[in-house]
Amino acid sequence: MRITLTTLQKMAREGDPITMLTCYDASFATLLDNAGVDTLLVGDSLGNVIKGEETTLAVTLEEMAYHTRCVARGAKRALVIADMPFGTFQVSPEKTFENAVPLMAAGAHMVKLEGGREMAETVAFLTRRGVPVCGHIGLTPQSVHQLGGFKVQGRGEAQAAKLLDDAKALEEAGAGLLVLEAVPAALAKQVTASIRTPTIGIGAGPDCSGQVLVLYDMLDLFPGRRPKFVRSFMRGAPSVQAAIEAFVKAVKDRTFPGPEETFQ
Ligand code: KIV
Ligand code: NA
Repeated sequence: MRITLTTLQKMAREGDPITMLTCYDASFATLLDNAGVDTLLVGDSLGNVIKGEETTLAVTLEEMAYHTRCVARGAKRALVIADMPFGTFQVSPEKTFENAVPLMAAGAHMVKLEGGREMAETVAFLTRRGVPVCGHIGLTPQSVHQLGGFKVQGRGEAQAAKLLDDAKALEEAGAGLLVLEAVPAALAKQVTASIRTPTIGIGAGPDCSGQVLVLYDMLDLFPGRRPKFVRSFMRGAPSVQAAIEAFVKAVKDRTFPGPEETFQ
């Protein structure tokens, strides 16, 4: 049976960890789906891992729609989320809705966009018109030049309070899921306890409602520097299928992320 947003919200309420991996094509989508991954994120990380670029800034809406179409054909059970690329959701709620249309038409069940309270009005506009939205706060890679690099976010009292406020604003606006990237574990735990919206962590410690990794990172395929929060599930695995199954199991039994993969 298809996983829906309702399924994911029930899982979060009942403390059943949600599994998410990024995915960019139909073959992997089928493999991840068969391994029981709950949600497939067509991430704009495809700018890095597919296109070989330094940042996600040059990813286009057409590229996102193409990869979403590929993933949607392979995913029978998983909920498919498509990233809205840089420049397609910042201008206005109306333009954002127009740009979400080709992604939903390509087979996405939800779109994801980066940003906190400043995006709340847009999130409300989309969700009230039938487009589920996943928020993304903490380290938001599309803002790398504003942030001054790929760094841990939410350190210090003021930054932590801002992150918590952003999470509450997105929940209030109707966000169905919330990705927390590169934030201290204690803060991610506090955010998760403070909102009903399920949180999906990447470098956010073990106390989120679920976990996500970039597929090519956890399969050790990406040649770049591996961030602290990535575990290679290929190590010791006899097949790609087994590596994905090991990720699902480690998230479900809460052995991933471990302390060495967590910012304290
Ligand atoms: O694009 C992506 O892969 C992402 C995840 C890291 C959350 O946004
Ligand atoms: Na992304």
